[in-house]
Amino acid sequence: MALFDVTIEARSGNARALTFETAHGTVRTPMFMPVGTHATVKGITVDVLHELKSQVVLANTYHLYMRPGVEIIEEAGGVQKFMNYDGPMLTDSGGFQLFSLNHMMKTDNDGVNFKALDYDGSKHRWTPDINMDIQQRIGADIAMQLDQCIGYPAEKHDVAASTKLSWEWAERCLMAHTRPDQGLFGIEQGGMHMDLRLESAKRLMEAEERAKAAGMRGFAGFGIGGYSVGEDHEVMFETLGEATRALPEDRPRYLMGVGNPTTLVRAVREGVDMFDCVLPTRTGRMGTAFSSQGRMNLRNAKYAHDFTALDHECDCPVCRNYSRAYLRHLVKQNEMLGGMLLSEHNLYFLIHLMEKAREAVLADAYEEFYEAWMASAGANDY
Ligand code: GUN
Ligand code: ZN
Repeated sequence: MALFDVTIEARSGNARALTFETAHGTVRTPMFMPVGTHATVKGITVDVLHELKSQVVLANTYHLYMRPGVEIIEEAGGVQKFMNYDGPMLTDSGGFQLFSLNHMMKTDNDGVNFKALDYDGSKHRWTPDINMDIQQRIGADIAMQLDQCIGYPAEKHDVAASTKLSWEWAERCLMAHTRPDQGLFGIEQGGMHMDLRLESAKRLMEAEERAKAAGMRGFAGFGIGGYSVGEDHEVMFETLGEATRALPEDRPRYLMGVGNPTTLVRAVREGVDMFDCVLPTRTGRMGTAFSSQGRMNLRNAKYAHDFTALDHECDCPVCRNYSRAYLRHLVKQNEMLGGMLLSEHNLYFLIHLMEKAREAVLADAYEEFYEAWMASAGANDY
């Protein structure tokens, strides 16, 4: 199999089970990807990532570019070598971070000027070409196009303008992307507007045709961006299904920045294959656990004398070895081990949930899996 060749192993309704090849191994979907923004999944060693059967790990181009800088990552031999993770990796372009972290930016058709106010205040300019150069040098298996993600609510003409800019930049990213062992994903935008979503998907495919005619490669997959930007979950689901299925069937579809267990189960039913989110690690550090009984706040006094496992239905290393009372003690004491262990359990929970989703698709029983999840106490996770 050539790199990024996709096999659709099974379908169940709109849900799919795919495999695709990367230079660091085969990826099986549906799957959840742990976020390692700064080339570390916070509180989680690489050994634990392997134990959790993590597949793709995310890093962020903006943050790595600012610190430690691209030169050091290149000198290490790429981001995988740098962080000692020998599985597949993906870098988000950083567009989302620029637009969401108040960078005093100025955007024009060719690129964006920004001030790194969360680092040293230095000034930078990124064009799609510059961003591709940076991501190719960082060297993850998958790069994301530079895009513009708009918040919610927003005026429709503003959403339309950023959607257009994003598909224009998609084409420029394709034209600039040459690294043979790396795949490039386009990103669909369009906010909550179905017509803009459909146009975005169509324009991405047209850009791909032109790139191929010019001798370049097409997209290895597609991100679905611009959701989870402040809207209600139900608002996202009004357009998500059609927006997902407007993207080519033969490529993975990645819903960016979404990590509630129930949202994942519902989105897979709409045809989404890949997810990432800081939620499992961020809420874990704050003392919250996903569980088969819904979200648990370990600060709650009711766990003080509870020496049973964190989640009675989970067989992760944390649930096999530590009690609720001990985890509560760690969290209350602000011990770093508390955040580490809850992050580990939460990552396992989402990775394992998607493994079960995959098994359900392979058995052509996704609807039963979905119904069972929605009827379970675990669905109480928003
Ligand atoms: N992460 C979450 N949403 C987005 C998005 O729309 N674009 C990018 N690049 N990253 C994201
Ligand atoms: Zn567990």
